[in-house]
Amino acid sequence: MRSTYASISLANIKHNIELIRSRLKPETKYLAVVKANAYGHGMEAVANCALESGAAYLGVAFAEEGVRLRLAGITAPILLLGATDEDHMDDVIRHFLMPTVFTVETLQLLQAHAVKLGMVCRVHIKADTGMNRIGFTSEATFTEAILLLKRCPNLVLDGLFTHFAVSELADTSFTLLQAERFRRYVEICSQNGLHPILHASNSAAALHIPEAQFDMVRGGIAMYGCHPAGHTVKGIDLRPVMSWHAYITHIKTIPAGEGVSYGLKFVTPCDMRVGTVAVGYGDGYKRCLSNKSEVLIRGIRARQIGTICMDQMMIDLTNVPDAVVGDDVVLLGRQGNDAITADELADLAGTISYEILLSISERVPRVYTKD
Ligand SMILES: Cc1ncc(COP(=O)(O)O)c(C=O)c1O
Repeated sequence: MRSTYASISLANIKHNIELIRSRLKPETKYLAVVKANAYGHGMEAVANCALESGAAYLGVAFAEEGVRLRLAGITAPILLLGATDEDHMDDVIRHFLMPTVFTVETLQLLQAHAVKLGMVCRVHIKADTGMNRIGFTSEATFTEAILLLKRCPNLVLDGLFTHFAVSELADTSFTLLQAERFRRYVEICSQNGLHPILHASNSAAALHIPEAQFDMVRGGIAMYGCHPAGHTVKGIDLRPVMSWHAYITHIKTIPAGEGVSYGLKFVTPCDMRVGTVAVGYGDGYKRCLSNKSEVLIRGIRARQIGTICMDQMMIDLTNVPDAVVGDDVVLLGRQGNDAITADELADLAGTISYEILLSISERVPRVYTKD
């Protein structure tokens, strides 16, 4: 085992899913978004845990991710949230993955591939109601697609969905407008006798915009224990799933006036006890956090000093005089009464919690705990 590891609490995934679901209508289904290696947490383990915790569907970005789940023995419905190109259609159909469709041409191609394989392909159609990423933007073209789909014996409309662009804002007006636009597409389906499962909300909308709730929500970041929107923090006991640990590999006292690390950008103002930790930007601890972030040692905050290297970084041990080589260093997560959150690191790095979690590289072993 390397000197650093990320501990993933399966109990907290379960807790977070149950918490999110407790805020939904009882009949609303939960799609667990496990794309990008489950936001860095490990796709197979998270998918299995989410399904055991009540998730009905899984969501990934593209075919390879879906196939990976199938090869792990997962049989639950899997939605591919991104575009599927023709090269991947046979794999998608063979593995019973559900592609997202947002052009008439894709429907035609899927039907042709399904006929060739003698199989049925369940699809979700996406309407773009304001995100301007993927999805039908014209009701006329959408109607054309629905009529075509009805004539395709090898295609089944499993779902209809849209995606919100600003559901993390306290001002819900644009999200509600998107929900309203989505209802037009739902109506077109109904008028044509189609009643797919409807879904729109991501974590932020699932937690705080009940008016935009349809038959299913697609939850990612909240399941991993991060608050999707600052104003939703209060009273919602989401529990961070990942904590990232390392240990002190070396301690020395550096005399006053010495530079530390590449570029000598940190200069010791006095004699300083400094610890080295074997984690760096090669592990996903962002270099832009240099001289900004803090870690926890013996439950006490200690600041990172000097440029973060690829595999190592230095910590000012002034606040932790008792620290010794081998002490646990928490880069992310709780120790004692304090915690370093993904949001804290994200603020310092000028990004969002998603990117902090996803940046933690494959070099860092994931260890799963049941508590
Ligand atoms: C289409 C779609 N649905 C749902 C999600 C989950 O969003 P969140 O992690 O904010 O819950 C994402 C995430 O990027 C997405 O792209």
